Amino acid sequence: MTSVLFVCLGNICRSPLADAVFNHLVQARSLEAHYTIDSAGTSAYHAGGPADPRSIAVARKNGIAVTSVSRKVHSGDHTEFDWVIAMDRENLRDLEASRPSGATARLVLLREYDPEGGEDVPDPYYGGPNGFDIVQAMVTRSCERLLDVLEEARASAGS
Ligand code: 4NP
Repeated sequence: MTSVLFVCLGNICRSPLADAVFNHLVQARSLEAHYTIDSAGTSAYHAGGPADPRSIAVARKNGIAVTSVSRKVHSGDHTEFDWVIAMDRENLRDLEASRPSGATARLVLLREYDPEGGEDVPDPYYGGPNGFDIVQAMVTRSCERLLDVLEEARASAGS
């Protein structure tokens, strides 16, 4: 089983979308038995709340349901998950700062897997709806490549 945690600031816009898109890709390839997927925020601003309606809407346009409930990252996440995937460099810095010693998760930026390159998935919270379409496309490209890479790793590990 490979476990993946997507992380942004509020866990209501970007990481819920990445969580839902990655889950959708896993299902499309009938790989559900091999992946555990979750998302979280570096803040507790929206803890207990649903995803932003604009993330839910942009995913729905693509036939994907966003059902996450916001939660804050906790120190155990750095060991319970195999991969912790940050949406932007600020998230990455915050995760590095809160990472306990001995943590085992691989900590990376999502856009390391974007075939078009780039670093941050920009925060669409204060922008217009167009920002959510951009984020959706970026997250989809990156999650497709990420799943390819994780599947290659799984195949070579023989799991
Ligand atoms: P997210 O977007 O990190 O992609 O979920 C944000 C959501 C809420 C806030 C900032 C970013 N906020 O400041 O409340």
